[in-house]
Amino acid sequence: MEVPSPAGLGVGDVNFPHTRLLCDGCPPLGWDAWGEKVRLLHELKRLPEAPDNADVRSQPVALSNSAYATIKEGRHHHFKVIQHDQLKDVLLIHGFGPDTDLLPVAKEIIVDSNCGAAILRGADIYVPGVMAAHPSMESGDTVSVYADLEGKCRKGLTKQYHGNKVFVGNGTAVLARKDIFCSQENVSGVAVHMTSPLFRCPSLGGVLPQLLFLQNLPSVVVGHVLDPQPGDVILDMCAAPGGKTTHLASLMRDEGVVIAFDKSEPKVAKLRANCEKLCIQCVKSFVFDGVKSLDSEKHCNRENTLLSASPPYPCGTFDRILLDAPCSALGQRPQFFVRMTLKELQSYPRLQRKLFTTAVGLLKEEGILVYSTCTITPQENEEQVAWALKSFPCVKLDKQTPHLGGPGLPNWGLSDDECQLVQRFDPTKVNAMDTERSQSNEDTIGFFIAKFIKKKSS
Ligand SMILES: C[S@@+](CC[C@H](N)C(=O)[O-])C[C@H]1O[C@@H](n2cnc3c(N)ncnc32)[C@H](O)[C@@H]1O
Repeated sequence: MEVPSPAGLGVGDVNFPHTRLLCDGCPPLGWDAWGEKVRLLHELKRLPEAPDNADVRSQPVALSNSAYATIKEGRHHHFKVIQHDQLKDVLLIHGFGPDTDLLPVAKEIIVDSNCGAAILRGADIYVPGVMAAHPSMESGDTVSVYADLEGKCRKGLTKQYHGNKVFVGNGTAVLARKDIFCSQENVSGVAVHMTSPLFRCPSLGGVLPQLLFLQNLPSVVVGHVLDPQPGDVILDMCAAPGGKTTHLASLMRDEGVVIAFDKSEPKVAKLRANCEKLCIQCVKSFVFDGVKSLDSEKHCNRENTLLSASPPYPCGTFDRILLDAPCSALGQRPQFFVRMTLKELQSYPRLQRKLFTTAVGLLKEEGILVYSTCTITPQENEEQVAWALKSFPCVKLDKQTPHLGGPGLPNWGLSDDECQLVQRFDPTKVNAMDTERSQSNEDTIGFFIAKFIKKKSS
């Protein structure tokens, strides 16, 4: 049986030459060095595998003993559930795998690589993720599920797929092949229920939906670092699908206002659905380009903002701003395959700088701006912070609480002290000798956080 392994995994169109690995203290390297970092993450099985823990955020007031017991004793009874020692609104649910005794059966189903990654995080298979299925697959059949690593499987293929694929577990077909590919109607919903996934990872699946939200640990750290207070006027500039927006709102006890933008209409619809599910009312969301959200002609009227005036907003409107920037997402796990051109990879810093420039204008004096990404390239992280400090003398870096990640990388424009002020979550750093508790802070997605304060003008 083949378990997910780095063999055959590629980095899409990004043809990175073989350079030495990036390490702390290495001199700055070009973009191509990051192909190696991605390869290293694959080699260490950090990208193709999910972090060991599924991190669950709860409404701060809601992590009552009864909620905790529901999670522990309900469908998650076979998982180890612990409360994070510093973040009291976080539960770590420890998954396990791979199940080396698991054997594939004859009938195969091929899913796309995103669906394969979701299965490793505890999901069932939904119709859109299915690429091909055994010609005689009927509802109720046991099937073996393979993720198509390179996106080469033709939709609806009737023969066996011999491309680069990886076994992710067995399941029970809910739909027959003909329902998935030959129906005249628009079929949706679960196609295969994963009864024996290779990695057992909890999915919340409707447990306490108003209280719990599945979220990666560094994403929850971001909310605490911004530390919104009840009554604040907050901007979440790139907000959808709203994992962090809903966290900010719950930290504010739903008092004040969170203005949430995203450029994508379908994603804003998801954000609204998430707010509704969690019964959050203080979020006002807009399909809007964050870059264009500053109107320096307008006069700042915070009352107006509270009454949900629409963007763009005047200078100095917001107490705190989160810029969870669009990025190359190379820190996301599990990730079988990175489909990105070098041009696309190199396009992110420009957009991030435009968004940052707007954010500085929208922030009031002594306000807080948190910049974060879920990627590992220093060009989108440390180098951006160095650029920001140089371009905007009105902002300075500030200490973060909590600080669970490691320091920033040296040699990308930050001083030693500045490297200590930012947090870099680096999944290549997981140490098997560490305690389970410290591992939970390291075995995460790759992530970066910087916190700025806008100085008072003299
Ligand atoms: C990293 S994701 C945000 C994740 C979100 N903060 C959360 O925690 O759920 C970045 C988002 O930025 C959005 N985006 C990209 N360019 C944008 C722009 N110019 N203005 C606003 N949103 C943008 C993308 O649609 C994407 O949803």
